[in-house]
Amino acid sequence: LEQTYVMVKPDGVQRGLVGEIISRFEKKGFRLAGLKMFQCPEDLAKKHYEELQEKPFFPKLVKYITSGPVVCMAWEGPGVVASARKLIGSTNPLQAEPGTIRGDLAVAVGRNVIHGSDSVANGEREIGLWFGEAELCKWQPELTPWLLE
Ligand code: GTP
Ligand code: MG
Repeated sequence: LEQTYVMVKPDGVQRGLVGEIISRFEKKGFRLAGLKMFQCPEDLAKKHYEELQEKPFFPKLVKYITSGPVVCMAWEGPGVVASARKLIGSTNPLQAEPGTIRGDLAVAVGRNVIHGSDSVANGEREIGLWFGEAELCKWQPELTPWLLE
């Protein structure tokens, strides 16, 4: 089953948005496979965002992600990578549609509350970076037949 890495960034944790964010993915019908609170070290933040290393905002981004605890999540379901990106909304919260997480809950690109993997390959890469094998739970909720045909 397809998996994506979703993370409540330090601003989302500090603002008390963790429950709201988890709730949106749960209600949509995705399955939680991993969940933890975590203080991200600088080297992991740099590795996670290595594709952006040449961007002028990269040092600020690393500082932001390491500025307090984050909540790490692995979500799974059919098409979960693209769907999670839709639930999250555009990178710049002022351009994100109302109804999306960033559209409803944020105003600044450098405080945009949440991360979601941008491809299936990056989903796998990021889950491998942020979670150990033993932290991921393989399970079949009893309601699966009510969600998936
Ligand atoms: P993520 O889900 O966090 O990866 O966001 P994204 O995929 O929507 O955007 P992208 O991967 O291009 O950028 C990663 C993160 O860098 C964004 O979520 C922002 O937090 C930050 N970022 C992107 N562009 C800017 C910018 O122009 N200025 C600042 N300060 N931060 C930026
Ligand atoms: Mg990204």
